[in-house]
Amino acid sequence: MAASKLTFNFLLLSFLASLLIPEISLCDHSRQPKRHVAMFLFGDSIFDAGNNNYINNISVFYRANYWPYGETFFHFPTGRFTNGRLIVDFIATKIGLPFVPPYLQPGINFTNGVNFASAGAGVFPLANPEVISLRMQLSNFKNVAISMEEQIGDKEAKKLRSQAVYATCVGANDYTYFVDNYPNATQLEQDEFVNNMVGNLTDFVKELYNLGARKFAILNVGPRGCQPAARQSEDLRGDECDEVSLEMIKKHNSAASKAIKELESKLSGFKYSIADFYTILLDMIKHPKDYGKYI
Ligand SMILES: *[C@@H]1O[C@H](CO)[C@@H](O)[C@H](O)[C@H]1NC(C)=O
Ligand SMILES: *[C@@H]1O[C@H](CO)[C@@H](O)[C@H](O)[C@H]1NC(C)=O
Ligand SMILES: *[C@@H]1O[C@H](CO)[C@@H](O)[C@H](O)[C@H]1NC(C)=O
Ligand SMILES: *[C@@H]1O[C@H](CO)[C@@H](O)[C@H](O)[C@H]1NC(C)=O
Repeated sequence: MAASKLTFNFLLLSFLASLLIPEISLCDHSRQPKRHVAMFLFGDSIFDAGNNNYINNISVFYRANYWPYGETFFHFPTGRFTNGRLIVDFIATKIGLPFVPPYLQPGINFTNGVNFASAGAGVFPLANPEVISLRMQLSNFKNVAISMEEQIGDKEAKKLRSQAVYATCVGANDYTYFVDNYPNATQLEQDEFVNNMVGNLTDFVKELYNLGARKFAILNVGPRGCQPAARQSEDLRGDECDEVSLEMIKKHNSAASKAIKELESKLSGFKYSIADFYTILLDMIKHPKDYGKYI
């Protein structure tokens, strides 16, 4: 498979390349972008850099503020669901930005962008009502847009928003919710859920566009059914994965790609890049030896 020859880092770099080049050279080690570009980040634990730390009384399940999270890079748990950095941290560094701060962190400055992502979040609030759903993340972005206008004026704020990159990774938690709550769903019900997901996700992108966003970077939905938590909760053995969610997610990713492509033809100035997180991550899970020294 071609994907196994790609390194994950290559995916990260090529992910934003179509949106950022030629303004910024990804090979330029000076770390100084020729033109400043902010990043606004939306989604779930794949992108959350610590927003959930600031939600009161949330279950420990949605938090990553304890050891061993953070052990290899920050050397303390930051709220990121990883031992090291997030995909969006690597991207920020490569384009000469500091790590994009979480929206709920007190005293943040929007100049380099804001991270609205919340671990556990879904397109639908039902996925995990305790955390910040995609809808709520959009409404938080609107608050930031208002304070931008107050602080730097309408014209500069509009420019910052139109030059910024809007990156999103969301959907896996909705499919977890669906398979957990509707184990006996018919094919028709599954397809209807996928259609509603893609429709609501497309509406989210359109609303961001209407608020001045032009450059979209989308990480598609990963193979949730092969992730350890899903395998454990369904008591799967060996390399078995939850096939129902994998099938639904494959349909989702293919329908979402089509829907976003259609937006490009309808909305003037709309640019996007979709990284195939599903294929890359599934390949890493199936062929771990191709990716490093840990197995
Ligand atoms: C905190 O969460 C627990 C468990 O969900 C609930 O029983 C309790 O009432 C909550 N406390 C507050 C102050 O909301
Ligand atoms: C935000 O940070 C930028 C760059 O560091 C700085 O120029 C600007 O004044 C800051 N804005 C506020 C409101 O602190
Ligand atoms: C799903 O079907 C199984 C077997 O037919 C049944 O035992 C179970 O109660 C059903 N679950 C739900 C949530 O309807
Ligand atoms: C969004 O999802 C709801 C179900 O939660 C559905 O009724 C609605 O049609 C969806 N919107 C789009 C544009 O698909």
